[in-house]
Amino acid sequence: MVTKRNLAEKDRERLENLKESLGKSRDTFLGYPVSKDFDYSELTPFLQYPINNLGDPFEEGTWKVQTHEMEKEVVAFFAKLFRAHPKDYWGYVTNGGSESNLYGLYLAREMYPKAMVYYSESTHYSVRKNIHLLNIPSIVIRSQENGEIDYEDFENTLRMNRHKPAIVLTTFGTTMKEAKDDVSRIKGILRNLAVQDHYIHCDAALSGSYGAFMEPRVPFDFKDGADSISISGHKFVGSPIPCGVIITKRGHRDRIAKGISYIGSLDTTIWT
Ligand SMILES: Cc1ncc(COP(=O)(O)O)c(C=O)c1O
Repeated sequence: MVTKRNLAEKDRERLENLKESLGKSRDTFLGYPVSKDFDYSELTPFLQYPINNLGDPFEEGTWKVQTHEMEKEVVAFFAKLFRAHPKDYWGYVTNGGSESNLYGLYLAREMYPKAMVYYSESTHYSVRKNIHLLNIPSIVIRSQENGEIDYEDFENTLRMNRHKPAIVLTTFGTTMKEAKDDVSRIKGILRNLAVQDHYIHCDAALSGSYGAFMEPRVPFDFKDGADSISISGHKFVGSPIPCGVIITKRGHRDRIAKGISYIGSLDTTIWT
């Protein structure tokens, strides 16, 4: 049963002021790459439920106030868009592109604990922070004038470290210039230098949602060589609550899955 509580006058006034100030800021800001053209008012009634998609969306859990069915639909939608193998994909809805990047790097580090991470100087700051949190050695690669990774600098740097597994963090839509790194070209360089132990995480937080529809296409997805791909939901799609998506190969996720008895599910996500 839900107890309805009335707000005190001063609290109601405070919320009114907040609403007005948020509306003004939304209508006048410039320069942040987020969509504000959305209307989720049909979802307002759902604010009365303690919804929590605990655990792995693909597992039955003990907590029933959840929307795992829909979460799986979101994952399936993006997996198809990113040309993942229909029988070898997995993912979940995150709290944003930063968490999705953390997850991709975490899977990569679990697979190759002695790897070096390569990322360009145009990479989003969440990546540098995540690499620090995961304590993985890394090298910054030069960017070209347009913001895309400098493939020559990457090849030369990789050559010097080819005895180590490589984790490459590519960006599909850099924050400042919307530049897109070509994943198939990166894959080609890894192959040419015979770096067999490698993992490519594509940070498509900004442009991944429309990348599949671009003409001409810039290679960035699973068929092009990515092992995991990040999306930010509050940028291109637009959302009142920060959110994102991570899509990866199911086999990668299986390596890190641990059973947690009290939620009756697998602990495969970063947060609960
Ligand atoms: C390229 C890129 N990656 C990651 C992020 C972080 O995404 P989020 O704000 O959803 O955590 C951003 C945000 O601007 C971004 O532009």
